[in-house]
Amino acid sequence: MAVNFKFDVDYIREQFPALSITVNGLPAAFLDGPGGTQVPKRVAEKVNEYMFYRNANEMGAFKTSQESDQSVLDARGVFAHFFNCDPEEVAFGENTSSINFKLSYAFARALKPGDEVLITNIDHEGNRSPWRVLEDFGIVVKCVDIDPETITLDFEDFKAKLSDKTKILAINWAANSCGTVSDVKKFIAEAHKYGAVTVVDAVHYAPHKVIDVKEIDTDILVCSAYKFFGPHLGVVYVRRALGDKLVSTRVMAGDNTEMPLKMETGTLAMELVNGAAEAVEFIADCGRRHAEQLTDELEGLSGLRRDIVAGLRAFEIYEEGLANKLREELSKIDGLKVYGPGAEAPRTSTVSFTIEGVNSNEIAKFFAERGLFVWDGDFYAIATINNVLGLEPAGGFLRVGFAPYNLMSDVERVIEAVKDFIKTK
Ligand SMILES: Cc1ncc(COP(=O)(O)O)c(C=O)c1O
Repeated sequence: MAVNFKFDVDYIREQFPALSITVNGLPAAFLDGPGGTQVPKRVAEKVNEYMFYRNANEMGAFKTSQESDQSVLDARGVFAHFFNCDPEEVAFGENTSSINFKLSYAFARALKPGDEVLITNIDHEGNRSPWRVLEDFGIVVKCVDIDPETITLDFEDFKAKLSDKTKILAINWAANSCGTVSDVKKFIAEAHKYGAVTVVDAVHYAPHKVIDVKEIDTDILVCSAYKFFGPHLGVVYVRRALGDKLVSTRVMAGDNTEMPLKMETGTLAMELVNGAAEAVEFIADCGRRHAEQLTDELEGLSGLRRDIVAGLRAFEIYEEGLANKLREELSKIDGLKVYGPGAEAPRTSTVSFTIEGVNSNEIAKFFAERGLFVWDGDFYAIATINNVLGLEPAGGFLRVGFAPYNLMSDVERVIEAVKDFIKTK
């Protein structure tokens, strides 16, 4: 099916005003998606519309406040379809890292010295540093290793570190360093045998693949809307039974102590909540345009969930074609190393590489002059890139991340730029 899949990239591109930007007369190619995607016009318009016509604080007796409250409720409903959960299990926050810090402080009250928490070396610091805070409370934080060759989690090491003492497993679903997708379902099932709570970081996964919290059976899952066409906002799923027990340390006197409101300290960025839900509606709109090519996969699904699944699957199929072409061409270049697992393992459309003897920042600057926007460095995947691979002196990885608005010509431009860059050496 993937071979014959017709992706309406022209329609997708029309939605993004930023694609009109040029650099030195060349169109900007936004290959920086893993750092944050571009925003479709309708998302920015939704934020504006909220601010112009519904901007009010919560629970007032008057029209704008009531409409504002309803828009937040509606947004929870949209994200319930995105995660496949109930609306009351969805809460909003500043960003993923801040949500994890908030959760970690909540768990600090529930845990006791000697209890253990597992984090991993494949994770972004946003799902490591917040859990390390628990060390201040006498809790032991252990770290699951990765295979440095394939940048994949070591399941045996995980099992060796898991025990009755393990109370939390904080695990990444897709690595922002180089796109490795981990079999979180397998890790979660194992952690649950010991009664541990599982926290899945889906920040890099969410823009590329379908999330189903029931299918992986996680207790908590966190992601950030600005990675999937939305504004800068974090979104968290908390399983109802756990959420009801969690004591947030960030609840003020007079605050609602029920889920999900107890997770949302103070006044929410309600305009961004509206914008984040609109980003999901954008994905669903793209899904409706591709659903008839995906009928087998969509069987049994209906409504908004079906449209979201269709949208993400369409993006995934299209982006895979771009990423595979880039990986294939890069692998032919001497002195260039592509990181991450091979084609046999699931991965996102994020391609990271280094060129021998060159600082990745130098390549990123060369690319930037040609309108190719890519990230270089460690992207806060410090454990993987700096600690395990020791690439800090080399400027970390050069990371090319695809989004549905990218073109095969962007891939060709990257390959040409790499070759031209090497000629300058
Ligand atoms: C995999 C992953 N986890 C966590 C984060 C942190 O997200 P936020 O900036 O929303 O705190 C990022 C950000 O790049 C990420 O890629």
